[in-house]
Amino acid sequence: MRILSDKGTIWISGTLHNHPSVGVTLKKLGFWIINDVVWYKRNATPLLSRNRLAPSTELIWVASKSKKYFFNYELAKQINGGKQMRNLWEINAERHKTAHPTEKPETLLERIISIASNENDVVLDPFLGSGTTGAVAKKLNRNFIGIEISKEYFEIAQNRICGVIENPLQEKTEITTHQTAKTYTFEPSQELSLFEPLSFYAKKRKKELYPNTLLFLTRKKNKKIKA
Ligand SMILES: C[S@@+](CC[C@H](N)C(=O)[O-])C[C@H]1O[C@@H](n2cnc3c(N)ncnc32)[C@H](O)[C@@H]1O
Repeated sequence: MRILSDKGTIWISGTLHNHPSVGVTLKKLGFWIINDVVWYKRNATPLLSRNRLAPSTELIWVASKSKKYFFNYELAKQINGGKQMRNLWEINAERHKTAHPTEKPETLLERIISIASNENDVVLDPFLGSGTTGAVAKKLNRNFIGIEISKEYFEIAQNRICGVIENPLQEKTEITTHQTAKTYTFEPSQELSLFEPLSFYAKKRKKELYPNTLLFLTRKKNKKIKA
């Protein structure tokens, strides 16, 4: 909540096993709950067991700090063929492009990032996985910060995001970490820079808990960003 901008929104995807507790936690933290988006996967994998219905949805909680949040209504309408967008999104689960077991379809992230931000805004994904959010953020001309605890997945994400070169960097960028107030300067040639174990979470929660948590960014601009 502390690092979400005043007009920003948080989008949390989950399944039946965690979405009730996500909702309760958002309420407890004082978030303003905007929407629940139901992502329907028509091509979801069939279930082998015959004792329940085959899961084919994921629920995405959308929340903000206040009622004055950024929401690109007109773009959402445009994506939906000129009609007001509803909260049931039919997007096929796509075949994995990487070895990560829960890679999300880029179409889903394209929709979320386009509706929730403008070009040059900062998108944060603290559970980066295979880097889908980062790859899409970069394609859509957003600044991006990703956090991943597994070195293996971090490397998958790093390679994937490095492969996206639609917006080559033109300028130097300075990033100042929130806790240490240390400033790092990135040259335009540093398309993707790994700079330090994430200090603001690690400090809060005892460093040992997240020894492999890494922070990287793409698409740097010539301005200071508080990470
Ligand atoms: C559901 S996956 C994310 C998949 C991602 N959306 C994609 O498209 O590939 C969640 C990721 O969060 C990572 N993770 C779990 N706990 C974490 C933590 N405390 N800090 C950072 N990353 C974490 C896991 O290693 C996993 O790769």
